[in-house]
Amino acid sequence: MSIFVTGATGYLGSYAVERLLRTTDQRLSLLVRAKDVQGARERLWQSLQLHMGFEEFREHLATRIDVYVGDLTAMRLGLDAERYGRLLKGTESVLHVAAALNRMSARLCHDVNLRGTLEIVELVRAIDAMHGVRRFSFVSTTAVAGERQDETIYEDSAIDFGRKDYDPYARTKKFCEHMIARTLPEVPIAIYRPAIVMGDTRFAATSQFDMVRATAMLARMKVLPLDPGARQDIVPADFVGHAIADLHMKPELRYGIYHLSAGHGSKTNAELMRELRLGGKPLRYAFMPRLGAPFGTTAGLAAASPRGLGVSYAGALLKGFWPYVTFNTIFDNNRVIEELGQVPAPFTQYGSALLDFAIEHGFEYPHEPWPAGPPGAEVSSSPA
Ligand SMILES: NC(=O)c1ccc[n+]([C@@H]2O[C@H](COP(=O)([O-])OP(=O)(O)OC[C@H]3O[C@@H](n4cnc5c(N)ncnc54)[C@H](OP(=O)(O)O)[C@@H]3O)[C@@H](O)[C@H]2O)c1
Repeated sequence: MSIFVTGATGYLGSYAVERLLRTTDQRLSLLVRAKDVQGARERLWQSLQLHMGFEEFREHLATRIDVYVGDLTAMRLGLDAERYGRLLKGTESVLHVAAALNRMSARLCHDVNLRGTLEIVELVRAIDAMHGVRRFSFVSTTAVAGERQDETIYEDSAIDFGRKDYDPYARTKKFCEHMIARTLPEVPIAIYRPAIVMGDTRFAATSQFDMVRATAMLARMKVLPLDPGARQDIVPADFVGHAIADLHMKPELRYGIYHLSAGHGSKTNAELMRELRLGGKPLRYAFMPRLGAPFGTTAGLAAASPRGLGVSYAGALLKGFWPYVTFNTIFDNNRVIEELGQVPAPFTQYGSALLDFAIEHGFEYPHEPWPAGPPGAEVSSSPA
């Protein structure tokens, strides 16, 4: 029997898959968008090379991984009846990590997060009806808490449908949690809500850059339109990825929802700016919180400007993240600490190396291609 995982080609999915491969002996069935099986293997190699060399990857692919080429937004995940039936029969639990994170696209968020999660709900129901499902884990986000200011949020009181949301991403993830709770009352469900995930405490490399790029922009500004005392709930990807995998595997969980966040260990803007370095050098800055509102408006105008002006990307990036950078809200993480006995490292401990890596590589991961030879001829991962 295997664990069915979505989102393995993404940033956090790669961490969860790596952890499951290295700390369990479970088979993994991975849903991957691609033209064909070899294309799917190559996409998995692109995401997993952050964690392992090709030989180890190839060994896992040959012995532990079943690739399912499909798409969340297609009926029955785009699998034919035979493959869908095989997936139902062979799956003991489901870990749904995949999502659309594009805060600017309501259409993508609706399609992938709502329609896609509904497809997963139907899959879980069918598995449960056939032979029971050990656990359905859903990776959500702390953004489901909606618009907030100067608060500490606890898991069970985060969701309030009367509250406005910052963007369609937050709104659709909130509705996913609701849909899962209402449609799968008999299934053991676990919800994991990461906060802002950036970097790794063990190495400088990352393959996800949007928030890192926004942070680098702020770190280079001489005048910071931020409140020095406001806190940023930033948590490393290794803590989050490992927590997702470890919680999914635990025989019993004390709670149904976990914040995967820095919580009370979150650093203030003043601490971040004081302790971070760029190229080994301290940052030079002055805080001017009163410029926050005009700065947010300017980012919005830049986002809407013609591409030719060259500021629309940076504007869109800052516009999308600005509410989360300025809301001075943290997410209590006592549950995950109690459950796993680990506390996430603060961003100041590993953030400088991350920013240096990102700047040095032009905010792109230096991917290694699939090694030469007839693509994947020698790797015999099961079907799809
Ligand atoms: N990163 C963060 O800071 C953060 C914070 C809070 C919560 N989260 C949550 O963590 C989860 C993973 O986020 P991430 O940062 O790893 O995102 P990511 O790197 O963008 O990965 C998204 C994954 O979803 C897959 N996906 C998207 N649309 C799909 C579709 N139609 N069919 C099948 N797969 C599809 C992507 O596949 P392709 O490779 O084919 O595009 C990719 O594997 C999400 O649920 C997100 O809400 C992330």
